[in-house]
Amino acid sequence: MPDQRIRQYIISDVAVRRGFLFASIGMIAVLLALLVLITAQPQGRFQALDASGHRLLLADAEARLASFELLEDGLARIDIDRAMELVVERGLDLEFAPAVAEPPEEVDPTLVDVADGSAIYAAQCAGCHQADGSGVPGAFPPLAGHVGDLYAADPAFLVQVTLYGLQGPIVVQGVSYAGVMPAFARLTDAEIAALLNYTLTAWGDAEELGDAFVPVGEDEVQAERDRAWTAADVLARRAELDLDE
Ligand code: HEC
Repeated sequence: MPDQRIRQYIISDVAVRRGFLFASIGMIAVLLALLVLITAQPQGRFQALDASGHRLLLADAEARLASFELLEDGLARIDIDRAMELVVERGLDLEFAPAVAEPPEEVDPTLVDVADGSAIYAAQCAGCHQADGSGVPGAFPPLAGHVGDLYAADPAFLVQVTLYGLQGPIVVQGVSYAGVMPAFARLTDAEIAALLNYTLTAWGDAEELGDAFVPVGEDEVQAERDRAWTAADVLARRAELDLDE
């Protein structure tokens, strides 16, 4: 019978309504879930990072690797033995001179009035021997009150130290030094003469020498240049002059 077949194969309208109902509920649930997902705030708490702290730590670590210790006021401290090693390794770079004094400004030698030995001293020597020539005990010998004795022993010795440097154990005014004095052969004869005359006159050494003091001349510097010595030769010359005191 066709009636019976219809009853068997066509889904009842109750079932169809239920189907619609469930489908709609399902769709609403999916839409709601999507809505929640789209509008949800990230659960973690994010903060904008200020990297300056990290950068400081990094700079500090780098400085330590380069064997500087950064101080809070922006200066750095370096072990004196290590500083000497660096001077030997890299030659003189005033940036590596210990921060015991205001670092002198590098002066372009062509701009310096050669008569102005004090400017050359400030630029080339004060970083180690200090602006007042007092040196740093155990690291850089004093020049004030000492260059007069060196001059008295042999005026040429001052020229030799400046031209060729000095390296090896010495004793100055009872204090031992075993440092490296760099060579300054790149300065002109006139500059070296002006510079040495400044060191001899700035702190009373020339006065003490009295008549024995005759300003160092350019020609005397020129005469020493031909030797082509090393710092070790200057040390040997110093021993001959018996200058330890
Ligand atoms: C990098 C640091 C440094 C600089 C820059 C420097 N000196 Fe020296 N100087 C030394 C040291 C260290 C000694 C001692 C060397 C040693 O122990 O053998 C010395 C020694 C000397 C001596 C010999 C002292 C003695 O009793 O024999 C004279 C003179 C001198 N310096 C002059 C100068 C002059 C002039 C300049 C500038 C042109 C200068 N120095 C720049 C570090 C320096």
